[in-house]
Amino acid sequence: MTDTTHNTQAASAASGRSDNAMWSGRLAFILAASGSAVGLGNIWKFPYITGENGGAAFVLVYLLCIALVGLPIMVAEVTLGRAGRSSPINTMKMLTRRDGQSSRWSFIGWMGMAASFLILSFYSVIGGWSLAYVGNAASGSFNGASSDAIGQLFGGLLSNPGTLMIWHSVFMVLVIMIVARGISSGMEKAINILMPILFFLLLVMVGYAMSTSEFGKGFDFLFKPDFSKLSTDSVLTALGHAFFTLSLGMGVMMAYGSFLPKNVSIVKTAVTVSVVDTIVALAAGLAIFPLVFANGLEPTAGPGLIFQTLPLAFGKMGGGTIFGTLFFALLLIAAVTSAISMMEPVVEWLEEQKGISRLTGALIGGGSIWLLGIATVLSFNEWAKFHPLSFLPVFEGKTFFDIFDYLTANIIMPLGGLLIVAYVGWVMKREAVEAELANDTGSALNLLMFVMRYIAPALVLVVFLYNLL
Ligand code: TRP
Repeated sequence: MTDTTHNTQAASAASGRSDNAMWSGRLAFILAASGSAVGLGNIWKFPYITGENGGAAFVLVYLLCIALVGLPIMVAEVTLGRAGRSSPINTMKMLTRRDGQSSRWSFIGWMGMAASFLILSFYSVIGGWSLAYVGNAASGSFNGASSDAIGQLFGGLLSNPGTLMIWHSVFMVLVIMIVARGISSGMEKAINILMPILFFLLLVMVGYAMSTSEFGKGFDFLFKPDFSKLSTDSVLTALGHAFFTLSLGMGVMMAYGSFLPKNVSIVKTAVTVSVVDTIVALAAGLAIFPLVFANGLEPTAGPGLIFQTLPLAFGKMGGGTIFGTLFFALLLIAAVTSAISMMEPVVEWLEEQKGISRLTGALIGGGSIWLLGIATVLSFNEWAKFHPLSFLPVFEGKTFFDIFDYLTANIIMPLGGLLIVAYVGWVMKREAVEAELANDTGSALNLLMFVMRYIAPALVLVVFLYNLL
């Protein structure tokens, strides 16, 4: 028996987990982690915040945030998860008890759960838009439609709380059903097939964008930086999005890491997941911005951006009905796989602490998230002018949806990430860190530790405090 298999078995025996409850290897983990990472964040959120923040300069800052903050924090999260081999809260309890540190570090797990709850409440509403658009595409609503007509289609959806409620509910029921059954291997297999199809369809869309007259302008918008367009607020948005898009700072990657076999390189896998995630986001941008400019639309359209641009392309291209239906179906699937990863910690916790069944946990957790989602549904119509926290300067002019988004991406996730990387860099026993990372980094371990101890926390702190003060 080699040392690595021995370690794996010892670890699984220690946590009462059988070897079957491990990822089968590096690839399985990469696909699962990418399934969580690649979601609405890449295809819906990245393009619209890039549009709102002036394009390439923002993209550059975002890429730096992924490399200098996101990547080290992903490594730190997975390291913690694999060292602890249980749910985030219990992993932190176990590690701190073993090494005689404060059990307050399990706050990381609590904060993550709260953030999952908030994010999923609005994520489900946007997931509902994708559902509605599968129907729109399939019924041929895009065929030959003008950009005005496409705009009205989207405006009509948003102004109708009843319709939004229906789609939000259907999305949540889907997620509850999957989580209640446990994430079966069937689900995993499905993701393995569906993700590559999503990548392929994105490439088709980029190909279409290349055939339009304004591809160059769209390309420049994404890649030719104009730093005068960058505000400090944009930097915080870029940082927050790096966390959001990589599913970081909330213990999700920690939970996934707890199933990672000992012999798999954490650094290599984290790099792969980050690269895949970034490519999908950039491809979405390349597919969308040329259409924005070719059709005289505004890049600053906000959350509706992809729903007002891509249908134009589907309406004009051959086989647009099929491609359009497939595209939104896959967007939906990407949203569902991410949503499951957010629901999982909530249900796991309800199960562990309250001793209720998985089904009951999924119903209670999902039901409350659904209820909170109503605030987001109304943010786009009845309550569009209702800014509940305007007495605080940071929340001025923000609807419930804006508040949930800001609170999670710009405050909770960076704070969670900061605590995680601070624990691994400064508090965790060096031997324990080495046990997870030394094999695959060798002498580069010192460099990695340097980034985890100084660079990543400093960047998060600076951006964070600057915006707070
Ligand atoms: N990363 C996903 C996206 O880009 C969203 C997501 C899924 C997420 N799980 C998460 C964000 C956990 C933060 C934490 O769409």
